[in-house]
Amino acid sequence: MTDQASKVKEDVLNFTIENAEQLEAFRLRFLSRKGEVPALFGLMGKIPADQRKAYGQQVNEVKNLAQDKFDSKKAELETDSTASASARDDISLPPAPFNTGRLHPLSQSLERIQEVFLRLGFTVAEGPELEDDFHNFTALNFPPEHPARDMQDTFYIRKDDEDASRDLLLRTHTSPVQIRLMKNGKPPFRAIMPGRVYRNESITAKSYCLFHQVEGLYVNKGVTFAELKETLIMFAELVFGKDVKYQIRPSFFPFTEPSLEMDIWWGDEKTGKWLEIMGAGMVHPNVLKAVDIDPEVYTGFAFGMGVERITMLRYGIDDIRLLYDNDMRFLSQFR
Ligand code: DAH
Repeated sequence: MTDQASKVKEDVLNFTIENAEQLEAFRLRFLSRKGEVPALFGLMGKIPADQRKAYGQQVNEVKNLAQDKFDSKKAELETDSTASASARDDISLPPAPFNTGRLHPLSQSLERIQEVFLRLGFTVAEGPELEDDFHNFTALNFPPEHPARDMQDTFYIRKDDEDASRDLLLRTHTSPVQIRLMKNGKPPFRAIMPGRVYRNESITAKSYCLFHQVEGLYVNKGVTFAELKETLIMFAELVFGKDVKYQIRPSFFPFTEPSLEMDIWWGDEKTGKWLEIMGAGMVHPNVLKAVDIDPEVYTGFAFGMGVERITMLRYGIDDIRLLYDNDMRFLSQFR
């Protein structure tokens, strides 16, 4: 065998192939168009005519050796990476575990909330996260100097010092969707409006700069406070279970009169405490007027609930930031 041919043969034999990268390196070095085996064939012209036949046989031998090594290593690596043949063919074995994704706990709560209200005859509506002053504040009966309009709470995208009607902001609650809904249609309205809201608050275990709310609105002839209460109690029982411990207490919002807040008991009998989950009330006559609905003819109730709070209660999560960290060790616990 010529020196070149035996050198290549030796290198083929010594080459270690234990993974796909090495297999590919082997192929490139010896078998590819510019590899060492084709190069041996390329030397054919330089061999004296009487030795060419013998040389051809030697080179063929090296080529077959390299090709066989490549084929068998390839097959070996492929069976390694799947199950072994016998395990794969045993149809009595349980299927290999298949790791499916799951919904984020916030999405799971949102789905549950929607399910409950769809059952109660509500539809679902949505509105933009970038709002103007009219929808987020003015139409909701916020007086011009109301502290909620303050820079400290609201993320302003555009703040006009002379003319608030030119302001653009990230909505601080989902209540502006009520206004959009009522402006664009005729009563009766019965809808929930889920979405993201933003507040310029420091991030702690209890508050985050963005969170989710579900707004609710029911406007019709003769809607009563009793219906509001009944709806909220039904909601609490369907989302937290029949034994839920709740309380309803008076509160204040510019856009409702009277107004209330609902709390759910968090923790056990002795060491637990009340956690507020929503505000609600009878739609203020000024709000109805702002969207050209006659408050002498129509009445309604509205509510706005915090999805993070509800999620934390449902799953016993004590730090809101966990819901935004995207840590799989945390998220994979919620089936
Ligand atoms: N928008 C209020 C908030 O962000 C929540 C709220 C309270 C919504 C009372 C309502 C309502 O619709 O009637 O805190």
